[in-house]
Amino acid sequence: MQQSNEAWGSRVGLILAMAGNAVGLGNFLRFPGQAAANGGGSFMIPYFIAFLLLGIPLMWIEWGIGRNGGRYRKGHIPGMFAAIWKHPAAKYIGVIGMVIPLVVLCYYTVLMSWTLAFTWFSITGDYWGLTTQQEMQQYLRSYQVIGDGSVHDFWVPFVFFFLSLGSTIWVLSRGISAGIEKLAKIGMPILFIFALILAIRVMFLGSGENGVSPIQGLEFIYKPDLSRMGEPGVWLAAAGQIFFTLSIGMGTLQTYASYLSKKDDIALSGIATAATNETAEVVLGGSIAIPAAVAFFGVSGAMAVAQSGSFNIGFVSMPLVFQGMPFGQMFGAMWFGLLFFAGITSSVAMATPIVAFYREEFGYKRETVSWIVGFVALCFGLLSIFWFQYGFLWEWDYWAGTFGLAVMAFIEVVLFMWVFKPENAWHSLHQGADIRIPGIYKFVMTYVTPLYLGIILVWWGVKEAIPFLRLEGGIGAGGAIPEGGEIYVHISRLLIVAIMVFFLVMIRIAWKRNRYDDRVGFVEVEDTELGLAPGMEGAR
Ligand code: PHE
Repeated sequence: MQQSNEAWGSRVGLILAMAGNAVGLGNFLRFPGQAAANGGGSFMIPYFIAFLLLGIPLMWIEWGIGRNGGRYRKGHIPGMFAAIWKHPAAKYIGVIGMVIPLVVLCYYTVLMSWTLAFTWFSITGDYWGLTTQQEMQQYLRSYQVIGDGSVHDFWVPFVFFFLSLGSTIWVLSRGISAGIEKLAKIGMPILFIFALILAIRVMFLGSGENGVSPIQGLEFIYKPDLSRMGEPGVWLAAAGQIFFTLSIGMGTLQTYASYLSKKDDIALSGIATAATNETAEVVLGGSIAIPAAVAFFGVSGAMAVAQSGSFNIGFVSMPLVFQGMPFGQMFGAMWFGLLFFAGITSSVAMATPIVAFYREEFGYKRETVSWIVGFVALCFGLLSIFWFQYGFLWEWDYWAGTFGLAVMAFIEVVLFMWVFKPENAWHSLHQGADIRIPGIYKFVMTYVTPLYLGIILVWWGVKEAIPFLRLEGGIGAGGAIPEGGEIYVHISRLLIVAIMVFFLVMIRIAWKRNRYDDRVGFVEVEDTELGLAPGMEGAR
């Protein structure tokens, strides 16, 4: 059963949805945390280099792979890879583009649920009166660790998780233009306005007890510092942040781009998406949490908070800052509310490759697949909640949300630039294009990006992944596997393997069922059935 194809309503909507996909918790929580933990100014140079040599090229490559897949109505990675490389292995390699987004979805919705909960706690002033870092840390921990009943009742986190996941799936079930695009049109402006107000408010914070002003916080990130440039860890962290924040190596940008036709521009849209994300990250994300934390704790204090746990800079230090402000509850609600909007416009993206797979290959209804994916995410999300203190969530974040992204990006570069060939890639990126991509990028994409990625992967493997695999050191905050936690580490990894095996089998069934011939390739869809909805030209 072939279903009518999904489509974007307008170009503005497409760009907002793509930006919504990219702008997420990564911009406002992960970025400040990573930047502060890696020395501020010393992080930013590797960060910008990674943006120029990995981020931008991969952004174009993913749009290119996605739209090329769309020509054959393939909105999922196994199909897109098979469209580029007519070899039986291509589809199986594409399994990575099913596993990563599903795994990330399962824990990302849990993180999102914290932001929803803290929005509520800000509105109700629940944490008012907890004025030291220790107290606030305990407040957060009691929320995160089920059974630690010191502050929150055990059921509270579940309520916020159901709400977060439920709203994600509901939007998803309404489809590309009526769900995701509409959400982005509402959510993105709200997010930017909230962020702007908060950034301005933070700049007017007085110097804290340490006599440090928020401006010194800006200096801390933006003043180039060459002293730590020789540390591999800083380079890896910077590349990892670029992948995560731009949603590269996930499979979701490709799915979004598959609903475009060769008449639609991807060159300008791709760079516009990257630029929007970086504005949200560096300008706004960098001007809220870090300056506030620096004004409150001083530079070394802020670094210590960031190192004590990935998201502590957002969940521990910001609530302390809000308590000292007039209208603090309102600003608190804005901060966590903005995080929630940033989160949901990303989480809806994560399930789209899987929805596309089951719609296109098995003829399932979008609503049906959406709710099934929701149920699966619910089960795995609950594990992340129950086993949080054993580092279960951080395992998934590491293998799928950090290391996995670089692996996937490497495969994509090789397929698009080497198997598909640079000339074809270049031509494909320029179909319908509103700009010409600077010629130097052809060279960068063909040689520099794969080389850079290759080095990073080897480095990462030797320095982190292999030691982690051998349980020499833990992944979660603190860097140690908690007492009795090894079994949960094994379970989390086995589950990822199980999900992968499951999708490999599904891919095999799909190819048999639809009688695809790997050597021949797919049948092209009529171009009139693709692309931005007709009659919407004016909206471009
Ligand atoms: N880029 C998003 C962020 O910064 C994360 C994301 C991952 C989005 C996977 C979509 C898919 O938070």
